[in-house]
Amino acid sequence: MIKINENYLKLKASYLFSEIATRVAAYQKAHPEKEIIKLGIGDVTRPLPSACIEAFHQAVDEMSDVETFRGYGPEKGYDFLRQKIAAVDFQAAGADVEADEVFVSDGSKCDCGNIQEIFATDVTVAIPDPVYPVYLDTNVMAGRTGAFADGRYRGIVYLDSSRANSFIPDLPTEPVDLIYLCFPNNPTGATITMDQLQGWVDYARENRALILYDAAYEAYIRAPGLPKSIYEVKGAREVAVEMRSFSKTAGFTGIRCGYTVVPKDCRGYDGSGKEHSIHDFWLRRHATKFNSVSYPVQRAAEAVYTVNGSRQVRDLTDYYLRNAALIREELTALGYECIGGDNSPYIWVDGRMDSWAFFDMLLEKAGVVCTPGAGFGRCGEGFIRISAFNHHERVQKALEKIKAALSG
Ligand code: MLT
Repeated sequence: MIKINENYLKLKASYLFSEIATRVAAYQKAHPEKEIIKLGIGDVTRPLPSACIEAFHQAVDEMSDVETFRGYGPEKGYDFLRQKIAAVDFQAAGADVEADEVFVSDGSKCDCGNIQEIFATDVTVAIPDPVYPVYLDTNVMAGRTGAFADGRYRGIVYLDSSRANSFIPDLPTEPVDLIYLCFPNNPTGATITMDQLQGWVDYARENRALILYDAAYEAYIRAPGLPKSIYEVKGAREVAVEMRSFSKTAGFTGIRCGYTVVPKDCRGYDGSGKEHSIHDFWLRRHATKFNSVSYPVQRAAEAVYTVNGSRQVRDLTDYYLRNAALIREELTALGYECIGGDNSPYIWVDGRMDSWAFFDMLLEKAGVVCTPGAGFGRCGEGFIRISAFNHHERVQKALEKIKAALSG
């Protein structure tokens, strides 16, 4: 008899963004005449930067020639890409990261979801609320939680992010082992300061904990002085793993490429308290279960670090930030409190009503898709998240429709 992993029974029936896609598809089927504008899932709409396209084409051509054809790539990713990542994304910002500590992957969603499997099932996990649902769901699947009750899983230490703490969670009051942080935050758009991040790193050092730092939206930070990487903070190399993505920066959501930095100083402990290298564990897992990202995709990602590529990525992120500023301005003018949207492509709006009801109302009255805050955790109830990832004209049109719906 094939037995199932019963931890899956604790999960909500479907993943947040699948649930939204199903609801929107059903609505569209029932109202085929209705125009729908999607500001829900953070999926990019602008084409790849031309520097990436050129590199991509050239690499595909190389694969057609017996002299330049390549089969399996190196397990951590090609050196040409990892060298650029280490030099430009970290060393240039004063963060001590070596190319050999970078693992190229098919996106940070997969890394965020997979990395928990190298830790014991009985570690205490701290997860912000609200936050990107992958952190919680993958720990539920792995059996690190009890049942779901009152909007929360037993066994998880929730790090509440609310108006009271300006959407930056306070340090836990009890010892925890594995800590997820995401800044700029998905969904709230809140950003963390150097001092606040230093507090988390110090906490992790004191408690021999590990921080999983999701920096998928760092390219949207414009305010000077805000950390883009956790390794800008003293002591982070010993207690932090950082995940990044080319999805929201260079438009790679469909191409798939990201990376995870696992410093060689990071330590985990076995049952007897003996130290082990987290880097070696992740390497073992990565080499066993993953065959890296295709050569053309890694060449396209490398092009992000050329002069033209970096300018084009900046233009791309500026484009979405212009949308974000407009969304924030218009919703604020309508009397809604908004968080994020300045150093982030997400705007967190206090809808002052049940968040799924707000979602339904916007879909029905305005034809606009947002993401209900409750989908990101109990503290998200009452809020919606609006994504700035769409064409500017579509965002303008969506805002006109929202205005009509909310004032009508
Ligand atoms: C989001 O909308 O939160 C993200 O696009 C989801 C993801 O990156 O997987």
